Amino acid sequence: MTNTPMQILAPDAAGLTTAAGILRAGGLVAFGTETVYGLGADARNDTAVAGIYAAKGRPSFNPLIVHLSDLATAEQYCVFNDDARALAAAFWPGAMTLVLPLRQGAGISKLVTAGLDTLAIRVPDHKVARDFLEKFDGPVAAPSANPSGRISPTNADHVIAGLGDKIDAVIDGGPCGVGVESTIVSCVGKPAILRAGGIPAEAISACLGHPIAVPDDPDMPQSPGQLASHYAPKGQVRLNAQQIDPGETLLGFGAVDATLNLSPSGDLTEAAAHLFDCLHQLDAMGATRIAVSPIPDHGLGRAINDRLKRAAAPRD
Ligand code: TXA
Ligand code: MG
Repeated sequence: MTNTPMQILAPDAAGLTTAAGILRAGGLVAFGTETVYGLGADARNDTAVAGIYAAKGRPSFNPLIVHLSDLATAEQYCVFNDDARALAAAFWPGAMTLVLPLRQGAGISKLVTAGLDTLAIRVPDHKVARDFLEKFDGPVAAPSANPSGRISPTNADHVIAGLGDKIDAVIDGGPCGVGVESTIVSCVGKPAILRAGGIPAEAISACLGHPIAVPDDPDMPQSPGQLASHYAPKGQVRLNAQQIDPGETLLGFGAVDATLNLSPSGDLTEAAAHLFDCLHQLDAMGATRIAVSPIPDHGLGRAINDRLKRAAAPRD
């Protein structure tokens, strides 16, 4: 975020123009949707997206939902199949998030997808959210606008109480009508509900014409951050490396002589913004053994270390 105090913006033309300008400048804007308030950033801007994680104090990089103004725009970012089109036609705009194959070259920050090759997208059904998305005219990554581990906000006061000193602005769109998060449906392969939410499974099954798979425990969302399929580099990863052993490629942090450096100046936000891109680059260069410099375990460093620990864990 910038250094100016948080602005509370009215959902009128002037407020939305200001809000869109803040996003374009890489800032963070919370906005009301019909489900819960989202904390928005330009989904193409690595540093802005890293700012979301920093503001929320998220201890891990869970991928984020990208909010778009309509289906035609959504097709620029994801590859739709027949099921996905049927669900979008029935439930968008609305409280449904679709997980679909990411279109290569669409320009979405790897920090949004946490390095996955799928993307979660949603067209919200809330006038202010839609006006804001149209004004910004780009993809907006937005998790719920609460500090990590706290309750999702359903009005602007909740956002201000939780994140007021960490974000640039909130657009006051009034209370959220639905009040629970969107239902997340994966249409990668056979459709499946990943997270129960504002649209019930029955309605989705009726639309598809067959029962849809639901999570075993509706209170335990299938977080891709926990799944084995979650992105890990092909090479073996060694953490807290103080020196480079023969055959290793160093992923550095701070003032070290490294093949790739997450942040030469030791800035954790910059490091988070570069993390997934660096892991992909290590794959591209064929690194088989990756040493990683020590990264301080506070602020965004916790999320970076969480991701790297998963990458370093023994694999099947
Ligand atoms: O209603 C909502 O969905 C709200 C509003 C702001 O749109 N957003 C929201 O975001 O609840 P968040 O970050 O709190 O939850 C996003 C969920 C996480 O459980 C994440 O694991 C899942 O979406 N997700 C994101 N990308 C995914 C992907 N590519 N594959 C599977 N799950 C994904
Ligand atoms: Mg949330």
